[in-house]
Amino acid sequence: MIKQQLLNRIADKSAVIGIVGLGYVGLPLMLRFAEVGYKVLGFDIDKSKVDALMAGNSYIEHISADSIATALTRGFEATTDFSRAGEADTLILCVPTPLNKYREPDLSFVLNTIDSLVPYLREGHLVSLESTTYPGTTDEELLPRMESRGLKVGDDAFLVFSPEREDPGNPDFTTRTIPKVCGGVTEACQEIGVALYSAVIDKVVPVSSTRAAEMTKLLENIHRAVNIGLVNEMKIVADRMGIDIHEVIRAAATKPFGFVPYYPGPGLGGHCIPIDPFYLTWKAREYGVNTRFIELAGEVNSNMPDYVVSKVASALNLRKKAINGSRVLVLGIAYKKNVDDMRESPSVFLMEKLRDLGAEVAYSDPHVPVFPKMREHAFDLKSVPLTAESIAGYDCVLLATDHDKFDYELIKAKAQLVVDSRGKYLEPAEHIVKA
Ligand SMILES: NC(=O)c1ccc[n+]([C@@H]2O[C@H](COP(=O)([O-])OP(=O)(O)OC[C@H]3O[C@@H](n4cnc5c(N)ncnc54)[C@H](O)[C@@H]3O)[C@@H](O)[C@H]2O)c1
Repeated sequence: MIKQQLLNRIADKSAVIGIVGLGYVGLPLMLRFAEVGYKVLGFDIDKSKVDALMAGNSYIEHISADSIATALTRGFEATTDFSRAGEADTLILCVPTPLNKYREPDLSFVLNTIDSLVPYLREGHLVSLESTTYPGTTDEELLPRMESRGLKVGDDAFLVFSPEREDPGNPDFTTRTIPKVCGGVTEACQEIGVALYSAVIDKVVPVSSTRAAEMTKLLENIHRAVNIGLVNEMKIVADRMGIDIHEVIRAAATKPFGFVPYYPGPGLGGHCIPIDPFYLTWKAREYGVNTRFIELAGEVNSNMPDYVVSKVASALNLRKKAINGSRVLVLGIAYKKNVDDMRESPSVFLMEKLRDLGAEVAYSDPHVPVFPKMREHAFDLKSVPLTAESIAGYDCVLLATDHDKFDYELIKAKAQLVVDSRGKYLEPAEHIVKA
């Protein structure tokens, strides 16, 4: 009965979609539900974000203010008032899951969120956790908290895990066209979760449990972390042998089966790939298992900024210069190309290492006009406009993130020295060093 009522509300679009955490994951999801015709109620603890959204503004570069304004006309509302959770039929949690300083899972955002919602949970609620996490989080942490309200999950209220898959800045995929995995605590939970997401996403992939869904997301991200680690290691070997790793990858990628290209770089960045694998590492210890591939890839990848700095040092050395006292311009400080997301960006580690070694560091990034406030890093810098004169004024230009907006010809023509950590420059040149 309760289940059928909720299914009917999803089907006739009278269900109110609550989304908790209006960031990189929550906002695009909100837009998609609003586009299809649902009323969306968004919750966030950050009042400045709620105020911006209610004023029709966006705080994420690739999400336009127009799209927010359109969603508002379709009934979208954002609030910091969690007592309104009862107005929503679904509560989709899209809050951060970082690591703490011991590189262990920090579930505090997820737990604070569910704890603030518990007083307002009611019959007929569907809770869906989208934040990346270790297998067992949904049924070990969320299920008992929901049931502490006296709700029987599977009968009175419903609980699923459905991991977000986003590739910010990639124009080829949208929320609608990226298939979505969903696992429920019970069959009824699963059925409702699949019905909800099928209303807005072309293909929903049901799996047998929340743990399988949690593990699926981790496999996807660990697959990337390990393969990037592998190719970063190959880069170092190739460099010692005088071989261009990018040429090798391009050649290998012509194999029509059994090979997937991954690209080396200055280190891992973003909210997912450097962090999520360690959620599994931590949980696996409970089962007496060491996740050696994950640890090894983490070690290789986290050494990459040091490798790049050593390349800068030897390139300057050849020109009878030291890092100490040199002017170094870092190109691209977002963690990947064509986005403004700075989380875990290896460019920031590069900047810190160079500064600690005495370099005078500047940066240029068309997506990040001012170095933002970050929890663990501070630079009082603005993006340097790239002109023939500004480029020529640096002892070294370090390409860290290969945004499409950079004028690569101009950089090549005017820079005294380019250290390229992205394989952007295919043709060898005396003043271009691959790192
Ligand atoms: N960004 C991506 O591309 C991506 C892709 C796949 C999965 N994920 C996963 O999705 C989750 C969310 O990531 P994100 O990138 O959207 O993070 P984000 O930092 O952009 O957004 C999280 C939002 O949650 C809000 N928040 C924090 N605590 C809250 C609370 N107690 N109640 C309500 N709101 C709260 C924050 O103010 C912020 O607006 C993470 O687990 C991440 O690993 C992210």
